[in-house]
Amino acid sequence: MDFMDSVLIIGGGGREHALLKALLRSDRPLCLYAYPGNPGMERDGCMLVDQKIANWDELADWAKMNEINLTVVGPEAPLAEGVVDTFKKHGLLAFGPSKAAAQIESSKVFSKNLMKKYGIPTADFEIFTAKDEALAYIEKKGAPIVVKVDGLAAGKGAVVCAKLGEAKAALEDIFDKKSFGEAGDAVIIEEMMSGEEASVFVLTDGKSYKILPVAQDHKRIGDNDTGLNTGGMGAYAPAPAVDAKVMAVVEKDIIAPTLAAMDKEGARYRGLLYVGLMMTADGPKVVEYNCRFGDPETQAVMPLVRCDWYKLFKECASARGNLSDVGWSVDSGYCVAVVMASKGYPGKFAKGKAITGIDEAEEKGTVDVYFAGVATDRKKENYQTNGGRVLAVSAKGETLADAIAQAYEGVAEIKFDGAAFRRDIGAKGLR
Ligand code: AMP
Ligand code: GLY
Repeated sequence: MDFMDSVLIIGGGGREHALLKALLRSDRPLCLYAYPGNPGMERDGCMLVDQKIANWDELADWAKMNEINLTVVGPEAPLAEGVVDTFKKHGLLAFGPSKAAAQIESSKVFSKNLMKKYGIPTADFEIFTAKDEALAYIEKKGAPIVVKVDGLAAGKGAVVCAKLGEAKAALEDIFDKKSFGEAGDAVIIEEMMSGEEASVFVLTDGKSYKILPVAQDHKRIGDNDTGLNTGGMGAYAPAPAVDAKVMAVVEKDIIAPTLAAMDKEGARYRGLLYVGLMMTADGPKVVEYNCRFGDPETQAVMPLVRCDWYKLFKECASARGNLSDVGWSVDSGYCVAVVMASKGYPGKFAKGKAITGIDEAEEKGTVDVYFAGVATDRKKENYQTNGGRVLAVSAKGETLADAIAQAYEGVAEIKFDGAAFRRDIGAKGLR
Protein backbone atom coordinates (compact mmCIF):
# COMPACT_ATOMS: atom_id res chain seq x y z
CA MET A 1 0.00 0.00 0.00
CA ASP A 2 3.06 2.21 -0.11
CA PHE A 3 1.87 4.07 -3.16
CA MET A 4 -1.36 5.12 -1.50
CA ASP A 5 -1.60 8.04 0.87
CA SER A 6 -3.77 7.57 3.94
CA VAL A 7 -6.23 10.10 5.28
CA LEU A 8 -8.08 10.14 8.59
CA ILE A 9 -11.27 12.20 8.87
CA ILE A 10 -12.31 13.22 12.39
CA GLY A 11 -16.09 13.51 12.82
CA GLY A 12 -19.12 11.54 11.76
CA GLY A 13 -21.82 13.86 10.42
CA GLY A 14 -23.10 14.90 7.02
CA ARG A 15 -20.28 17.41 6.73
CA GLU A 16 -17.61 14.75 7.19
CA HIS A 17 -19.42 12.48 4.73
CA ALA A 18 -19.30 15.37 2.23
CA LEU A 19 -15.57 15.87 2.86
CA LEU A 20 -15.04 12.15 2.26
CA LYS A 21 -17.00 12.21 -1.00
CA ALA A 22 -14.95 15.22 -2.14
CA LEU A 23 -11.70 13.34 -1.38
CA LEU A 24 -13.06 10.34 -3.29
CA ARG A 25 -13.75 12.54 -6.32
CA SER A 26 -10.10 13.67 -6.34
CA ASP A 27 -8.21 11.88 -9.05
CA ARG A 28 -5.92 10.09 -6.61
CA PRO A 29 -6.09 6.72 -4.89
CA LEU A 30 -6.44 7.21 -1.14
CA CYS A 31 -6.77 4.94 1.82
CA LEU A 32 -9.51 6.54 3.93
CA TYR A 33 -10.31 6.22 7.63
CA ALA A 34 -12.77 8.02 9.87
CA TYR A 35 -13.09 8.51 13.61
CA PRO A 36 -15.83 7.89 14.50
CA GLY A 37 -17.34 8.20 10.98
CA ASN A 38 -20.80 6.91 10.13
CA PRO A 39 -22.39 4.02 8.20
CA GLY A 40 -22.60 6.15 5.03
CA MET A 41 -18.87 6.80 5.14
CA GLU A 42 -18.30 3.08 5.67
CA ARG A 43 -20.59 2.32 2.72
CA ASP A 44 -18.38 4.57 0.56
CA GLY A 45 -15.29 2.53 1.42
CA CYS A 46 -13.98 4.43 4.42
CA MET A 47 -12.67 2.31 7.29
CA LEU A 48 -14.00 3.32 10.70
CA VAL A 49 -11.65 3.50 13.68
CA ASP A 50 -13.60 1.22 16.01
CA GLN A 51 -11.12 1.37 18.85
CA LYS A 52 -11.93 3.18 22.10
CA ILE A 53 -10.04 6.46 22.07
CA ALA A 54 -9.73 8.27 25.41
CA ASN A 55 -8.00 11.42 24.19
CA TRP A 56 -6.38 13.00 21.14
CA ASP A 57 -2.94 11.65 22.09
CA GLU A 58 -4.36 8.15 21.74
CA LEU A 59 -5.83 8.95 18.33
CA ALA A 60 -2.47 10.42 17.27
CA ASP A 61 -0.79 7.16 18.38
CA TRP A 62 -3.30 5.22 16.31
CA ALA A 63 -2.63 7.52 13.34
CA LYS A 64 1.12 6.96 13.63
CA MET A 65 0.68 3.21 13.84
CA ASN A 66 -1.50 3.26 10.73
CA GLU A 67 0.83 5.59 8.79
CA ILE A 68 -1.75 8.33 8.29
CA ASN A 69 -0.36 11.07 6.03
CA LEU A 70 -3.05 13.65 6.68
CA THR A 71 -5.89 14.14 9.17
CA VAL A 72 -8.87 16.32 8.27
CA VAL A 73 -10.83 17.63 11.25
CA GLY A 74 -14.56 18.27 10.74
CA PRO A 75 -16.20 19.52 13.96
CA GLU A 76 -15.35 22.50 16.16
CA ALA A 77 -15.05 20.67 19.50
CA PRO A 78 -11.84 18.72 18.68
CA LEU A 79 -10.33 21.89 17.14
CA ALA A 80 -11.17 23.93 20.25
CA GLU A 81 -9.58 21.17 22.34
CA GLY A 82 -6.37 21.47 20.33
CA VAL A 83 -6.41 18.25 18.29
CA VAL A 84 -4.32 19.88 15.55
CA ASP A 85 -1.66 20.92 18.10
CA THR A 86 -1.65 17.41 19.58
CA PHE A 87 -1.16 15.83 16.15
CA LYS A 88 1.59 18.32 15.38
CA LYS A 89 3.34 17.43 18.64
CA HIS A 90 3.33 13.81 17.44
CA GLY A 91 4.81 14.87 14.08
CA LEU A 92 1.52 14.44 12.23
CA LEU A 93 -0.10 16.72 9.69
CA ALA A 94 -3.68 17.84 10.40
CA PHE A 95 -5.98 20.16 8.45
CA GLY A 96 -7.60 22.73 10.74
CA PRO A 97 -6.68 25.67 12.96
CA SER A 98 -4.57 25.38 16.10
CA LYS A 99 -6.29 25.69 19.47
CA ALA A 100 -5.25 29.35 19.62
CA ALA A 101 -6.68 30.07 16.16
CA ALA A 102 -9.85 28.05 16.84
CA GLN A 103 -10.70 30.68 19.47
CA ILE A 104 -12.18 32.60 16.58
CA GLU A 105 -15.17 30.29 17.11
CA SER A 106 -14.67 28.93 20.61
CA SER A 107 -14.64 32.38 22.23
CA LYS A 108 -16.96 35.09 21.01
CA VAL A 109 -15.19 37.49 23.40
CA PHE A 110 -12.00 36.76 21.42
CA SER A 111 -13.63 37.17 18.00
CA LYS A 112 -15.64 40.29 18.83
CA ASN A 113 -12.59 41.97 20.36
CA LEU A 114 -10.53 40.96 17.32
CA MET A 115 -13.06 42.57 14.99
CA LYS A 116 -13.19 45.72 17.11
CA LYS A 117 -9.40 46.02 17.30
CA TYR A 118 -8.91 45.58 13.55
CA GLY A 119 -11.97 47.50 12.33
CA ILE A 120 -13.75 44.50 10.80
CA PRO A 121 -17.47 45.27 10.35
CA THR A 122 -19.74 43.51 12.86
CA ALA A 123 -22.66 44.32 15.17
CA ASP A 124 -21.84 46.84 17.95
CA PHE A 125 -21.47 45.06 21.28
CA GLU A 126 -20.47 45.10 24.92
CA ILE A 127 -19.12 42.24 27.02
CA PHE A 128 -20.35 41.40 30.54
CA THR A 129 -19.38 38.90 33.23
CA ALA A 130 -21.99 39.95 35.80
CA LYS A 131 -25.76 39.75 35.44
CA ASP A 132 -26.63 43.11 37.05
CA GLU A 133 -24.46 45.09 34.67
CA ALA A 134 -25.77 43.14 31.69
CA LEU A 135 -29.35 43.81 32.82
CA ALA A 136 -28.71 47.52 33.23
CA TYR A 137 -27.21 47.61 29.72
CA ILE A 138 -30.15 45.88 28.00
CA GLU A 139 -32.55 48.19 29.84
CA LYS A 140 -30.60 51.18 28.57
CA LYS A 141 -30.42 49.82 25.00
CA GLY A 142 -33.96 48.38 24.74
CA ALA A 143 -35.22 45.68 22.36
CA PRO A 144 -34.61 44.25 19.84
CA ILE A 145 -31.28 43.05 21.14
CA VAL A 146 -29.08 39.96 20.85
CA VAL A 147 -27.62 38.00 23.79
CA LYS A 148 -24.79 35.52 23.14
CA VAL A 149 -22.66 33.33 25.36
CA ASP A 150 -18.90 33.46 24.95
CA GLY A 151 -18.17 29.76 24.50
CA LEU A 152 -19.28 26.84 22.32
CA ALA A 153 -22.96 26.05 22.72
CA ALA A 154 -23.84 23.67 19.85
CA GLY A 155 -25.63 26.43 17.95
CA LYS A 156 -27.83 27.40 20.90
CA GLY A 157 -25.67 30.21 22.24
CA ALA A 158 -27.27 33.18 20.45
CA VAL A 159 -30.69 34.53 21.38
CA VAL A 160 -32.23 37.18 19.16
CA CYS A 161 -34.66 38.97 21.47
CA ALA A 162 -37.60 40.91 20.03
CA LYS A 163 -38.69 41.93 23.54
CA LEU A 164 -36.79 42.99 26.63
CA GLY A 165 -38.39 40.16 28.62
CA GLU A 166 -36.71 37.57 26.36
CA ALA A 167 -33.33 39.16 26.93
CA LYS A 168 -33.89 39.14 30.69
CA ALA A 169 -34.93 35.47 30.54
CA ALA A 170 -31.80 34.69 28.51
CA LEU A 171 -29.61 36.36 31.15
CA GLU A 172 -31.35 34.36 33.91
CA ASP A 173 -30.70 31.20 31.93
CA ILE A 174 -27.04 32.05 31.51
CA PHE A 175 -26.14 33.56 34.89
CA ASP A 176 -28.64 32.02 37.38
CA LYS A 177 -29.45 28.61 35.91
CA LYS A 178 -25.95 28.26 34.40
CA SER A 179 -27.59 26.49 31.44
CA PHE A 180 -24.45 26.96 29.36
CA GLY A 181 -21.94 26.13 32.09
CA GLU A 182 -18.58 27.83 31.67
CA ALA A 183 -19.46 28.85 28.12
CA GLY A 184 -21.75 31.43 29.75
CA ASP A 185 -19.20 32.95 32.15
CA ALA A 186 -19.12 35.94 29.81
CA VAL A 187 -21.91 37.24 27.57
CA ILE A 188 -21.91 39.47 24.54
CA ILE A 189 -24.83 41.82 24.14
CA GLU A 190 -25.06 43.23 20.66
CA GLU A 191 -27.27 45.21 18.33
CA MET A 192 -29.68 43.27 16.17
CA MET A 193 -28.79 43.37 12.50
CA SER A 194 -31.14 42.59 9.67
CA GLY A 195 -30.61 41.39 6.14
CA GLU A 196 -29.89 38.22 4.16
CA GLU A 197 -27.41 35.81 5.70
CA ALA A 198 -24.70 33.94 3.81
CA SER A 199 -21.95 31.46 4.66
CA VAL A 200 -18.55 32.19 3.14
CA PHE A 201 -15.95 29.41 3.36
CA VAL A 202 -12.32 30.43 3.07
CA LEU A 203 -9.61 27.79 2.68
CA THR A 204 -6.28 29.14 3.82
CA ASP A 205 -2.65 28.25 4.51
CA GLY A 206 -2.53 31.38 6.67
CA LYS A 207 -1.48 33.76 3.90
CA SER A 208 -3.02 32.85 0.56
CA TYR A 209 -6.61 31.72 0.40
CA LYS A 210 -9.34 30.37 -1.86
CA ILE A 211 -13.02 31.15 -1.45
CA LEU A 212 -15.61 28.42 -2.02
CA PRO A 213 -18.95 29.16 -3.71
CA VAL A 214 -21.07 31.14 -1.24
CA ALA A 215 -23.83 29.15 0.43
CA GLN A 216 -27.02 30.04 2.17
CA ASP A 217 -28.22 27.92 5.09
CA HIS A 218 -31.82 27.55 6.29
CA LYS A 219 -31.62 27.68 10.09
CA ARG A 220 -35.28 27.56 11.12
CA ILE A 221 -37.20 24.29 11.29
CA GLY A 222 -40.22 25.52 9.30
CA ASP A 223 -40.85 26.70 5.74
CA ASN A 224 -40.46 30.45 5.15
CA ASP A 225 -38.01 30.65 8.06
CA THR A 226 -40.54 29.97 10.81
CA GLY A 227 -40.25 28.05 14.08
CA LEU A 228 -37.25 27.10 16.14
CA ASN A 229 -33.58 27.44 15.22
CA THR A 230 -31.81 24.23 14.18
CA GLY A 231 -28.30 23.23 13.15
CA GLY A 232 -29.44 23.88 9.56
CA MET A 233 -32.22 22.29 7.49
CA GLY A 234 -30.74 22.75 4.03
CA ALA A 235 -28.42 24.85 1.93
CA TYR A 236 -27.74 25.86 -1.61
CA ALA A 237 -24.84 27.40 -3.50
CA PRO A 238 -23.93 29.72 -5.06
CA ALA A 239 -26.22 32.15 -3.24
CA PRO A 240 -27.04 35.33 -5.17
CA ALA A 241 -27.03 37.29 -1.87
CA VAL A 242 -23.26 37.68 -2.38
CA ASP A 243 -22.48 38.53 -5.99
CA ALA A 244 -19.00 39.31 -7.34
CA LYS A 245 -19.28 42.98 -6.38
CA VAL A 246 -20.27 42.25 -2.79
CA MET A 247 -17.59 39.54 -2.60
CA ALA A 248 -14.93 42.08 -3.54
CA VAL A 249 -16.02 44.17 -0.52
CA VAL A 250 -16.11 41.07 1.71
CA GLU A 251 -12.57 40.15 0.66
CA LYS A 252 -11.17 43.62 1.20
CA ASP A 253 -13.01 44.54 4.41
CA ILE A 254 -13.42 41.15 6.08
CA ILE A 255 -11.46 38.15 4.77
CA ALA A 256 -8.03 39.69 4.18
CA PRO A 257 -8.12 41.78 7.40
CA THR A 258 -9.25 38.77 9.46
CA LEU A 259 -6.37 36.57 8.28
CA ALA A 260 -3.89 39.41 8.76
CA ALA A 261 -5.29 40.09 12.24
CA MET A 262 -4.94 36.45 13.30
CA ASP A 263 -1.34 36.46 12.08
CA LYS A 264 -0.61 39.67 14.02
CA GLU A 265 -2.15 38.17 17.15
CA GLY A 266 0.26 35.25 16.86
CA ALA A 267 -2.50 32.81 15.95
CA ARG A 268 -1.95 32.30 12.24
CA TYR A 269 -5.12 30.81 10.83
CA ARG A 270 -4.84 27.62 8.78
CA GLY A 271 -7.68 25.44 7.59
CA LEU A 272 -11.20 26.48 6.83
CA LEU A 273 -12.52 29.80 8.07
CA TYR A 274 -16.30 30.07 8.01
CA VAL A 275 -17.44 33.67 7.85
CA GLY A 276 -21.13 34.03 8.70
CA LEU A 277 -22.29 37.24 7.05
CA MET A 278 -25.29 39.47 7.15
CA MET A 279 -25.97 41.83 4.25
CA THR A 280 -27.11 44.88 6.19
CA ALA A 281 -28.15 48.25 4.80
CA ASP A 282 -24.61 49.40 5.79
CA GLY A 283 -22.95 46.60 3.83
CA PRO A 284 -21.82 43.10 4.75
CA LYS A 285 -21.08 42.51 8.45
CA VAL A 286 -19.79 39.47 10.34
CA VAL A 287 -22.44 37.64 12.39
CA GLU A 288 -19.93 35.06 13.58
CA TYR A 289 -16.86 33.13 12.58
CA ASN A 290 -16.62 29.35 12.74
CA CYS A 291 -13.34 27.47 12.68
CA ARG A 292 -14.62 24.65 10.45
CA PHE A 293 -16.84 23.80 7.51
CA GLY A 294 -20.58 24.38 7.97
CA ASP A 295 -23.17 21.64 8.04
CA PRO A 296 -25.23 21.35 5.78
CA GLU A 297 -23.50 23.99 3.62
CA THR A 298 -20.57 21.66 2.90
CA GLN A 299 -22.95 19.15 1.30
CA ALA A 300 -24.02 21.89 -1.17
CA VAL A 301 -20.63 23.50 -1.76
CA MET A 302 -18.11 20.68 -2.19
CA PRO A 303 -19.83 19.06 -5.20
CA LEU A 304 -19.36 22.31 -7.16
CA VAL A 305 -15.57 22.44 -6.89
CA ARG A 306 -13.07 20.29 -8.74
CA CYS A 307 -9.65 20.00 -7.24
CA ASP A 308 -7.26 17.55 -5.70
CA TRP A 309 -8.67 17.94 -2.21
CA TYR A 310 -5.94 15.82 -0.65
CA LYS A 311 -3.28 18.13 -2.04
CA LEU A 312 -5.26 21.21 -1.10
CA PHE A 313 -5.89 20.14 2.51
CA LYS A 314 -2.24 19.15 2.80
CA GLU A 315 -0.98 22.52 1.54
CA CYS A 316 -3.23 24.25 4.09
CA ALA A 317 -1.89 22.05 6.89
CA SER A 318 1.85 22.11 6.12
CA ALA A 319 4.13 24.65 7.75
CA ARG A 320 5.49 25.72 4.36
CA GLY A 321 2.32 24.89 2.44
CA ASN A 322 1.28 27.03 -0.48
CA LEU A 323 -2.34 26.87 -1.42
CA SER A 324 -1.91 28.99 -4.54
CA ASP A 325 -0.14 26.05 -6.24
CA VAL A 326 -3.27 23.88 -6.18
CA GLY A 327 -5.42 23.72 -9.33
CA TRP A 328 -9.05 24.55 -8.77
CA SER A 329 -12.16 25.05 -10.83
CA VAL A 330 -15.75 25.78 -9.93
CA ASP A 331 -18.54 24.19 -11.96
CA SER A 332 -21.23 26.34 -13.48
CA GLY A 333 -24.68 25.73 -12.06
CA TYR A 334 -26.02 25.15 -8.57
CA CYS A 335 -26.10 22.56 -5.84
CA VAL A 336 -28.90 22.11 -3.30
CA ALA A 337 -28.84 20.00 -0.13
CA VAL A 338 -32.09 19.19 1.70
CA VAL A 339 -31.87 17.85 5.26
CA MET A 340 -34.29 15.12 6.34
CA ALA A 341 -34.83 15.19 10.10
CA SER A 342 -36.65 13.14 12.73
CA LYS A 343 -40.12 14.44 13.69
CA GLY A 344 -39.78 16.57 16.82
CA TYR A 345 -36.28 17.89 16.05
CA PRO A 346 -34.84 20.30 17.31
CA GLY A 347 -36.81 19.15 20.37
CA LYS A 348 -37.32 15.52 21.47
CA PHE A 349 -37.47 12.86 18.79
CA ALA A 350 -37.60 9.06 18.54
CA LYS A 351 -34.72 6.95 17.16
CA GLY A 352 -34.53 3.54 15.50
CA LYS A 353 -36.94 4.13 12.60
CA ALA A 354 -36.13 2.05 9.51
CA ILE A 355 -34.83 4.07 6.55
CA THR A 356 -35.47 2.92 2.98
CA GLY A 357 -34.85 4.31 -0.50
CA ILE A 358 -31.27 5.56 -0.19
CA ASP A 359 -30.02 3.52 -3.19
CA GLU A 360 -33.08 4.51 -5.21
CA ALA A 361 -32.47 8.19 -4.42
CA GLU A 362 -28.83 7.97 -5.50
CA GLU A 363 -29.84 6.38 -8.80
CA LYS A 364 -31.57 9.64 -9.69
CA GLY A 365 -29.56 12.11 -11.77
CA THR A 366 -26.89 13.86 -9.74
CA VAL A 367 -28.29 12.94 -6.31
CA ASP A 368 -25.93 12.24 -3.41
CA VAL A 369 -27.05 11.16 0.05
CA TYR A 370 -25.00 12.26 3.07
CA PHE A 371 -25.50 10.33 6.31
CA ALA A 372 -25.66 12.10 9.68
CA GLY A 373 -27.96 10.59 12.36
CA VAL A 374 -28.00 7.12 10.79
CA ALA A 375 -27.14 3.79 12.43
CA THR A 376 -27.31 0.22 11.20
CA ASP A 377 -29.54 -2.35 12.85
CA ARG A 378 -28.08 -5.13 14.97
CA LYS A 379 -27.37 -7.37 11.98
CA LYS A 380 -25.74 -4.42 10.16
CA GLU A 381 -28.16 -5.01 7.30
CA ASN A 382 -30.54 -2.08 7.44
CA TYR A 383 -30.24 1.61 8.15
CA GLN A 384 -32.24 3.29 10.88
CA THR A 385 -32.56 6.79 12.29
CA ASN A 386 -30.21 7.69 15.11
CA GLY A 387 -30.36 11.46 15.45
CA GLY A 388 -32.22 14.71 14.90
CA ARG A 389 -30.79 15.57 11.51
CA VAL A 390 -30.78 12.14 9.84
CA LEU A 391 -29.35 12.74 6.38
CA ALA A 392 -29.05 15.27 3.58
CA VAL A 393 -29.93 14.80 -0.07
CA SER A 394 -28.02 16.93 -2.55
CA ALA A 395 -28.28 17.44 -6.30
CA LYS A 396 -26.68 19.63 -8.93
CA GLY A 397 -28.34 21.44 -11.81
CA GLU A 398 -27.51 23.96 -14.50
CA THR A 399 -30.18 26.18 -12.97
CA LEU A 400 -31.12 26.53 -9.31
CA ALA A 401 -34.68 25.42 -10.14
CA ASP A 402 -33.33 22.22 -11.72
CA ALA A 403 -31.07 21.48 -8.74
CA ILE A 404 -33.99 22.01 -6.35
CA ALA A 405 -36.28 19.73 -8.40
CA GLN A 406 -33.67 16.95 -8.52
CA ALA A 407 -32.87 17.18 -4.80
CA TYR A 408 -36.56 16.84 -3.94
CA GLU A 409 -36.89 13.87 -6.33
CA GLY A 410 -34.20 12.23 -4.23
CA VAL A 411 -35.97 13.19 -1.01
CA ALA A 412 -39.21 11.63 -2.32
CA GLU A 413 -37.47 8.22 -2.57
CA ILE A 414 -36.29 8.18 1.03
CA LYS A 415 -38.75 7.05 3.66
CA PHE A 416 -38.69 6.75 7.43
CA ASP A 417 -41.39 7.10 10.02
CA GLY A 418 -41.72 10.76 11.00
CA ALA A 419 -39.43 12.13 8.27
CA ALA A 420 -39.51 15.94 8.39
CA PHE A 421 -37.98 18.33 5.89
CA ARG A 422 -38.44 21.84 4.59
CA ARG A 423 -40.06 22.19 1.19
CA ASP A 424 -38.55 25.58 0.37
CA ILE A 425 -34.78 24.95 0.37
CA GLY A 426 -33.22 27.22 -2.23
CA ALA A 427 -36.45 29.11 -2.89
CA LYS A 428 -34.89 32.33 -1.58
CA GLY A 429 -32.30 32.14 -4.35
CA LEU A 430 -35.00 32.02 -7.03
CA ARG A 431 -36.42 35.39 -5.99
P1 AMP B 1 -24.38 32.76 16.03
O1 AMP B 1 -24.43 31.68 17.08
O2 AMP B 1 -23.62 33.95 16.39
O3 AMP B 1 -24.06 32.20 14.70
O4 AMP B 1 -25.89 33.18 15.78
C1 AMP B 1 -26.86 32.27 15.32
C2 AMP B 1 -27.90 32.97 14.48
O5 AMP B 1 -28.48 34.01 15.24
C3 AMP B 1 -27.31 33.68 13.25
O6 AMP B 1 -27.19 32.82 12.16
C4 AMP B 1 -28.32 34.76 13.02
O7 AMP B 1 -29.45 34.27 12.33
C5 AMP B 1 -28.75 35.14 14.42
N1 AMP B 1 -27.96 36.30 14.90
C6 AMP B 1 -26.80 36.28 15.59
N2 AMP B 1 -26.36 37.52 15.85
C7 AMP B 1 -27.26 38.36 15.32
C8 AMP B 1 -27.38 39.78 15.28
N3 AMP B 1 -26.49 40.58 15.84
N4 AMP B 1 -28.47 40.30 14.65
C9 AMP B 1 -29.39 39.49 14.09
N5 AMP B 1 -29.34 38.15 14.10
C10 AMP B 1 -28.30 37.58 14.72
N1 GLY C 1 -24.92 25.44 9.30
C1 GLY C 1 -24.38 26.28 10.28
C2 GLY C 1 -23.14 25.80 10.91
O1 GLY C 1 -22.55 24.85 10.46
O2 GLY C 1 -22.71 26.40 11.89
